[in-house]
Amino acid sequence: MSTPYKFQGWLGMDKDSVNGKMVWGDYEPKTWTESDVDIKITHCGQCGSDIHTLRAGWGYTIFPCCVGHEIVGTAVKVGSAAKKGIKVGDRVGVGAQAGSCLKPDCEDCSAGLENYCSRMVGTYNGKYADGSKSYGGYAKYTRVPSHFVFKIPDGIASADAAPMLCGGITVYAPLTHNGCGPGKRVGIVGVGGLGHFGLLFAKALGADKVVAISRTRSKESDAKQMGADDFIATDEDKDWAKTHRQTLDLIVSTVSSPKMPLGQYFRLLKTQGQFIQVGAPEDKIPSFSAFALIAKGVKFGGSSIGSPAEIDAMLKFAAEKKIKPWIVTRPMKDANQAVLDLEDGKARYRYVLVNEPEGAHL
Ligand SMILES: NC(=O)c1ccc[n+]([C@@H]2O[C@H](COP(=O)([O-])OP(=O)(O)OC[C@H]3O[C@@H](n4cnc5c(N)ncnc54)[C@H](OP(=O)(O)O)[C@@H]3O)[C@@H](O)[C@H]2O)c1
Ligand SMILES: [Zn+2]
Ligand SMILES: [Zn+2]
Repeated sequence: MSTPYKFQGWLGMDKDSVNGKMVWGDYEPKTWTESDVDIKITHCGQCGSDIHTLRAGWGYTIFPCCVGHEIVGTAVKVGSAAKKGIKVGDRVGVGAQAGSCLKPDCEDCSAGLENYCSRMVGTYNGKYADGSKSYGGYAKYTRVPSHFVFKIPDGIASADAAPMLCGGITVYAPLTHNGCGPGKRVGIVGVGGLGHFGLLFAKALGADKVVAISRTRSKESDAKQMGADDFIATDEDKDWAKTHRQTLDLIVSTVSSPKMPLGQYFRLLKTQGQFIQVGAPEDKIPSFSAFALIAKGVKFGGSSIGSPAEIDAMLKFAAEKKIKPWIVTRPMKDANQAVLDLEDGKARYRYVLVNEPEGAHL
């Protein structure tokens, strides 16, 4: 079905696109259905996953690929069967998921765990059941099934809401699932896009103590302003794992590289503590001795984004608690340079690409 607007965005054509070589071009969105919403994008946050995907580091990028899954904009077309009362003109967002089977006989979807459905469709680099490809938010417009579109609460600015939709929910979900709150001491490994949300949310959830675990002390002052009560620099503090041993109930690790002192992180856990990995390195994470888990009865797990219901709950919580992410806005036309800067570790702490007025995108 034709639309008065074109679907255009920054396309990675091959693995080299991660080196600042995405090209602006047209693409074919998913085939329209009456449960879909077309969104005119105003903002798109930049997630570490965008880099892994452009580099085909996880091994399965279907080029051409338009990345970006922290999308906020205006609903410009809403199908007659769209859910959640979304109307044309509403300020809406999309996170890292744009589809799942939603069938009543799917254990995951029927339990509100759409994010774990085996037919999960990523907002980019995914394929819908009808064979259409999904394209992300480094673009002017996007088309997404309404089940995965969220109304943005009035209290949250669009630029702040965008990175919550992947970066925020990916730490909010494991924190809330694993008891972060009064009486708990919580560590966040990696003070990047996800990690900074981890500090903000852990503090707002009322944890007794929040500890930032970073490689160097360069982010210490920022982390403390975000809510960290203590700071560990793993490349700089001698004997850190010994000094801080058995001090934390829960650790959420956002580390994006396989080069991590995993066995040492476990030593920070108290008896029956939990370690949840959300960072998704391209290579295998380090091996460790079974005794690292057995000796203190600790659990090692993972977590993937969050469900649509959890995203709504997080947005409500963020509005109530006035969570203010640390973002740097950049024009959409500078997407290539922003990819290079994120890869260089320069983001403090999330770049959010902003669409310029019509016609000024190149
Ligand atoms: N599980 C999920 O559902 C999910 C969802 C979104 C993203 N992710 C993944 O989560 C990871 C983090 O994403 P992000 O957007 O937060 O990325 P980011 O902003 O680049 O942050 C990653 C952080 O990892 C730490 N790190 C440790 N060793 C590193 C190394 N050798 N090279 C680079 N960084 C290193 C750094 O923290 P310090 O400087 O403090 O050491 C860095 O700030 C990515 O792998 C991404 O794909 C997973
Ligand atoms: Zn993401
Ligand atoms: Zn399902």
